[in-house]
Amino acid sequence: MAKIETLNGINVELIREDFPILKRKVHGNHLAYLDSAATSQKPASVIAVINEFYSTHNATVHRGVYQMSQEATARYKDAHVKVARFINARSYEEIVFVRNATEAINLIAYSWGRANIKAGDVILLTEMEHHSNLVPWQLLAREKGARLEFISVDKDGLLDLQEMKENIDGRIRLIAVTHMSNVLGTINPVKLITEFAHENGALILVDAAQTVPRYAVDVQEIDCDFMVFSGHKMLAPNGIGALYAKSEILEDMKPFITGGNMIQEVKLRESKWGELPWRFEAGTPAIEEGIALGTAIDYLEGLGMESIENYERQIVAYAMERLSEIDGIEIYGPSSEQRGGLVSFNLAGIQPHDIAAALDYDGIAIRAGHHCAQPLHEKLGIKASARASFYLYNTREEVDRLVNGLHKAKKVFG
Ligand SMILES: Cc1ncc(COP(=O)(O)O)c(C=O)c1O
Repeated sequence: MAKIETLNGINVELIREDFPILKRKVHGNHLAYLDSAATSQKPASVIAVINEFYSTHNATVHRGVYQMSQEATARYKDAHVKVARFINARSYEEIVFVRNATEAINLIAYSWGRANIKAGDVILLTEMEHHSNLVPWQLLAREKGARLEFISVDKDGLLDLQEMKENIDGRIRLIAVTHMSNVLGTINPVKLITEFAHENGALILVDAAQTVPRYAVDVQEIDCDFMVFSGHKMLAPNGIGALYAKSEILEDMKPFITGGNMIQEVKLRESKWGELPWRFEAGTPAIEEGIALGTAIDYLEGLGMESIENYERQIVAYAMERLSEIDGIEIYGPSSEQRGGLVSFNLAGIQPHDIAAALDYDGIAIRAGHHCAQPLHEKLGIKASARASFYLYNTREEVDRLVNGLHKAKKVFG
């Protein structure tokens, strides 16, 4: 009989019951959803709160004096308060709701970057960034005559911080780094990198799209200046994400998008901005998605972030062990102690897309491609990889199904 798996003392089978989609079948097989690094599945409480909002509270925020609008406004603000508490920001004023991590980075690049990056400045990135944390900086650097530099990724899939300290010359103005690589799984020492940034008079942006869903992330402990993440990777709906910035930095930034909802006073020829964080949330916001992000946080906190992290570490360690038994597999990135819950790999002689298509027949959903990290794939000397990623609802049995599916794929294509 299979061993019962528990997360914070709760049988994972019971946790899975909270996710209606996990009951569905794909090509006649039970779904094994191994693509949570792309997007997570949603618990019934998150799905229900959207229904509940439209059934009982639907009204726009900030404007109405009538009860429903005030209720919607209070709940929407409360969601900001929850996000602030979740990442230990000092106040909800430091939390701006955006569509996703990508929009948050663009906001920083337009609003802070255009005012603060000058010709000759260095924007320091890493070779493992998602395109979202690369392309906005390419545009900004080109526009301003600034220079992009990159912290190298070594053969173990770790950042070469020694080289960073020794070789970087010029005036670094911003370091923008992923907290966890969405390809290698590497967890980067962002606190150390923050210290280096501040010693050099630079600000730091942490792309926490992969870590906020699975670790207890504390912005005050890291001391980062900006942090970004997406709700859809942490049990919340699409179309909602958050930008954290220290309030003194936000106070100095000009709004990125302007119009209604973000102003204090408008005259025909000039306007005064409203308070934080609403100043950066022009237009009617994604109200129910924001509220549902708060519900997703309730769910995560109910399980406990440390328990989620521990559970995922066990699953990824098991996956690494089982996958490395397969002949001809190449696994990218560091050992399981230094990685979050995902494994990217290639099988000799089989295209990653063929692997994903073969697994799909067995109901196993993994991702194939460059995972929006083409420069990293180029560095690894490959065009694409297959990626299995895990979250709080995955089980060892699903890892076993993945391994069996890969053996089958080898027979078919090998
Ligand atoms: C590390 C990292 N950064 C940024 C993003 C972009 O997230 P979104 O598409 O939700 O904006 C992703 C998505 O995969 C990611 O993994």
